[in-house]
Amino acid sequence: SWANVPAGPPDPILGVTEKFKADKSPKKINLGVGAYRDGQGKPYVLPTVKKAEKILSDAMQDKEYLPITGLADFTKLAAELAYGKDSKPIVEKRLAITQSISGTGALRIGTAFLARHYPGAKTIYLPTPTWGNHIPISKDSGLEVKQYKYFDKSTVGLDFEGMKADIKAAPEGSIVLLHACAHNPTGVDPTEAQWKELSDIVKEKKHFAFFDMAYQGFASGDTLKDAFAVRYFVEQGHQILLCQSFAKNMGLYGERVGAISFVCESPEEKARVDSQLKILIRPLYSNPPVHGARLVSTILSSPELTEEWLVEVKGMADRIIEMRERLYNKLVELKTPGEWGHIKSQIGMFSFTGLKPEQVDALAEKASIYLTRDGRISMAGLNGNNVEYFAESVSKAVKG
Ligand code: LMR
Repeated sequence: SWANVPAGPPDPILGVTEKFKADKSPKKINLGVGAYRDGQGKPYVLPTVKKAEKILSDAMQDKEYLPITGLADFTKLAAELAYGKDSKPIVEKRLAITQSISGTGALRIGTAFLARHYPGAKTIYLPTPTWGNHIPISKDSGLEVKQYKYFDKSTVGLDFEGMKADIKAAPEGSIVLLHACAHNPTGVDPTEAQWKELSDIVKEKKHFAFFDMAYQGFASGDTLKDAFAVRYFVEQGHQILLCQSFAKNMGLYGERVGAISFVCESPEEKARVDSQLKILIRPLYSNPPVHGARLVSTILSSPELTEEWLVEVKGMADRIIEMRERLYNKLVELKTPGEWGHIKSQIGMFSFTGLKPEQVDALAEKASIYLTRDGRISMAGLNGNNVEYFAESVSKAVKG
C-alpha cells in the first residue's frame, strides 16, 4: 500500500492553473502559466501552424518511430534558427543535437548528461530567481544546485555587479545556467555589452555556459536579436550547451517540441556525444513524438511560411507590449502606491510585479485572479476585456 507516501505541495506554476480551473467566477483570470492568449483571452493557434497542419494532413505520413535523437530535418532547422546557418559548429559539423520533449525535456537531458559526463564538479549555478522547475530538474538529474545573484529588488532590474561577482567567485570550471533571453520570471535581461562581459568572465574562469532559450522571438519580437547571447558566446569559442523550446514562439505547448545541442570541438567528439545522448534517451522515453517536430520543420523549411511565422511572433510580442502600456497607465491613473515603471521596461512573456505573497493570495480570494506567489504575472493573460479589472484589483490589494 501507499500508506507511507506523504502528500506533496502543488506545483508552484501548474498548481495555479488547477486552482484557476476550480474557480467558478466569470471574472476569473489566469496569469500563472506562461502560455500566450489572444486579444480575447483564448489560446492561439498560429496561422502558420494551421497551414502546416493542413500540409501534413494532406501528406498523411506514416506514424513510424523517429530515431532516438528525433527528426533530423527538425533538429537541423532548429539549430540553424538558434545558431545561424553559417555558424561554425554547424558548418564544421561539430554540433551534437537531439530533439527533446520541449524545454523541460531538453533541460533534463542536459543536466543528466552533465551529471554523467561533466569532468568538473557537478554543481550548477542558477540565477536568483530562476524558473522554478530549473531547481528540481537539476537536482533530480543529480547535480548540486547553487545560485548567483541576478535580480535587484531595489531597482527592479539586473544586479549586474552581484551577478558578475558571484560568477567570478564560483570555483573554476563551474556549470553556469544562463537564460538566453526573456528571463523567466523577472523579464530582465543583460544588455549586449553586459553579455560580452559575461562571456569574458566565463572564459577567464573556464566555466561551462549552459543556455536555456525558451523564448526566442518573445523578448524583442525578433528571433535573430534574441539569439544574440547564444551566438556571441559561440563566436567567442565557448563550447556551450543549448536548450530550445518551440512551446512559446510557435505556440506548440502541448506538442512538446524542443531540442538540446552541444557545441563540440570536432566531428569526432560530436559522434561520441551523439552516442551518449542515445544511451541516455533510450531508457528514458525511447524516442520523441513526431507530430510537433514535423510542424516545426514544415514551417522552417519553407521561406514563405518562415516569413509569415516571424510576423506572427512579432504580433504576439507586440500585443504583450501593448498590455504592459495599458496596465502601467491604469495603475498610475488609480494612484496605486509604488513605482510601476518596470511593468513597461521588463520584456518577454512575464512581468515580475513585486506583489507580495499575501497580496497574491488576496487577489485569488477576493478577485479570482491567479498568479504565482513570487508575484510573476504572465502578461499574455491580459487583454482589452480584463486589464482594467486586473489593475483595479491590484490597486486594491496594494492599498490593503
Ligand atoms: C512558465 O514558466 O509558466 C512556463 O515555462 C510553463 C511551465 O512549464 O512552467
